[in-house]
Amino acid sequence: MKNEKQLRSRQWFGSNDKMGFVHRSWLRNQGYPDDYFEGRPVIGICNTWSELTPCNGHLRDFAEIVKKGVLEAGGFPLEFPVMSLGETIMRPTTMLFRNLASMDVEESIRANPLDGVVLLTGCDKTTPSTVMGACSVDLPTIVVPGGPMLSGRYRGEPIGSGSFNWIFKEKEKTGGLTGLELREVETCAARSAGHCNTMGTASTMATMVEALGLTLPGASAIPAVDSRKKVMAQLSGRRIVEMVREDLTLSKILTRQAFENAIVVNAAVGGSTNLIIHLLAIAGRIGVDLTLEDFDKIGSKIPLLVNLMPSGGYLMEDFFYAGGLPVVLKELEKKLHGNALTVNGKTIRENNAGAECFDRKIIANVENPVQPEAGIVILKGNLCEEGAVIKPSAATPSLMKHSGRAVVFENMEDYHERIDNPDLDIDENCVIVLKGVGPKGYPGMPEVGNVDLPEKLILKGVRDMVRISDGRMSGTAYGTVVLHVSPESSVGGTLALVQNGDIIELDVENRRLHLHVPDDILQKRKAAWKAPEPMASRGWVRIYLDHVEQAHKGADLDILVGKSGAEVSRDLH
Ligand code: FES
Repeated sequence: MKNEKQLRSRQWFGSNDKMGFVHRSWLRNQGYPDDYFEGRPVIGICNTWSELTPCNGHLRDFAEIVKKGVLEAGGFPLEFPVMSLGETIMRPTTMLFRNLASMDVEESIRANPLDGVVLLTGCDKTTPSTVMGACSVDLPTIVVPGGPMLSGRYRGEPIGSGSFNWIFKEKEKTGGLTGLELREVETCAARSAGHCNTMGTASTMATMVEALGLTLPGASAIPAVDSRKKVMAQLSGRRIVEMVREDLTLSKILTRQAFENAIVVNAAVGGSTNLIIHLLAIAGRIGVDLTLEDFDKIGSKIPLLVNLMPSGGYLMEDFFYAGGLPVVLKELEKKLHGNALTVNGKTIRENNAGAECFDRKIIANVENPVQPEAGIVILKGNLCEEGAVIKPSAATPSLMKHSGRAVVFENMEDYHERIDNPDLDIDENCVIVLKGVGPKGYPGMPEVGNVDLPEKLILKGVRDMVRISDGRMSGTAYGTVVLHVSPESSVGGTLALVQNGDIIELDVENRRLHLHVPDDILQKRKAAWKAPEPMASRGWVRIYLDHVEQAHKGADLDILVGKSGAEVSRDLH
C-alpha cells in the first residue's frame, strides 16, 4: 500500500518552496480547494475525444463521469487531451499516426504530476496508441472503452458498420442498389454515439483490453449510449484511485499470461487481424516477449464462439444483451490463464465465474461452437520470410489451398487505374498481388488488403479471390486475404519481385505461401530491384520512415520499444 507521502504527485505539490508554489498556484485558477493538493492521488484522464473522431465524440461527457468517481474515492482528477485518430477521416491512414499518438500519451503522462491514469478510448487506433504510451511510463492505469454504436437498420435489415458497406457497394456495382438508396443506407448505419458495432477493429481492441485485464469486468460490449456505460466509467474513476494506493501498475497486469489470454479471446470472438500488430507493439513497450508465431501456436485452434459480423450475423449490441465478453471468458475457462490479474484486483477467473449466457445464437458454448477452429494463421514461405497473416474464419474454404497466376499491382494508384479495365488479363483463379502498402511503403500500412475484385468478375458472380499484400485489412472486412507480408515490398522483400504470370501457392493448412520462381531468377530480379524514393524529407513522416519496424514486430518505431518509467530526472527550474 502506498501512503500519501509516496505519491508521485507529491514531487510537484508537496513542497513549500518556490516550485511547490508555482505548481499549485497556477492550477488554482481552475478553483481547486487546499485539500486537493494535500495528498490526494492525482488521476490523469487521458481523453481521445475529438469531433474529428466521430466514434469518440461522446468521451468529453464521459470524462466528467470518470471525474465524479475519482472525487468520490478521494482522488484529484485532471483531464488532458491527446492526439485522437479518426479512422474514417484521417489521410492517408490513422496507422501512420498510431506511434505519434502513443508518444503524445507517454510524454503527457510522464511530464505531469500524475499518480494514475484513465484512458478514454474508442475508435480503432485510440486504444492501442494510448495503451502503448501508458506502458512506456507504467503507472497504475485503467481503460474505459467508449463502447459500440447501437445496431443500424436499413428497411428492416440490420446494418453493421463497415461490413455492410462492402456488400452494398457490390450491390451498387451489379445494379442492385441505386445511388439514392446508398445514401439512405449511409444515414441508417451510424445512428448513435460509439464506435463500429461489428467485431471490427474497435470492438476487437475493446475486447483485447478487457481480456488483458485492463478494464472493469464486462466493460467492452456495453453500448456507448447505455446508462450502464456511464456507471462503468464512474466505477473506473473510483477504482483507479484504489489502484494508485495499491500500486497496481500496468506491468503487474500485463504479463505474458495476459497476452496469451488476449490471443485466445481474439480467436474466440472472431476478432480483427489488426490485433496482431497492436498486441505485438504493446508487448514490446511493456517488455513481454511475444512473437508472430505465438498467434498461430496459441490462437489458431480456438473455437469461434461468437456469432458477430463480419464472421457471423449479429452486432455488438446483441452481444451485450447475450451477456457480453464475461460469458466468452467463462466458456474459455480451461483455455485461459485464470489466475491472470485484472485492474479490479481480482483474477480473470474470479471476475467471470458467475457469467450467464442469455442467447446461445449469439454466444455459443465450447462443445457446440460457431466454428470448430477460428483464430489467425501465420504463413511462412519464400514470399514472406518473416511471416504473413490470414484469418480463415473470414475466408472462403475452397480457396484455402490454391495455386494461381499472379496479377500484380505495383501500388494502390496502379490498382485503381487498371482493376476495372475490361482488357485486364484476370480470371477468378488468379491471385491479386498488391505491393507498396506496407508500413514504409504507403507509408502507414493502410487497410487496403481486401481490395475489391475486378468489376467484370463481380458481374460474373465471383465473390472472392486470393489477394496478397503487405497491407492490413479492416476488421469489418472479409475474404481470402493474405496480409502483413513481411518483409514488405518497399524494403526489398520477395513481394517486390513478383511479376505478372508467376505462380503463387497458398496452403493454409500447411502454413505455406510460396512463389514458384527459381532462386537464381529471384536473385537476378533482386539485383535489378531499386528501392523507392523516400515519401517524405521532413517532419513526422520522415521520423516514421527512418524508424518504423516491419509488421511482424508490430510496426512500432525502434526508438519507442520498451519503457522509460515514470521518473523525470530534471525539475522545472
Ligand atoms: Fe471508428 Fe470504426 S470508424 S471504430
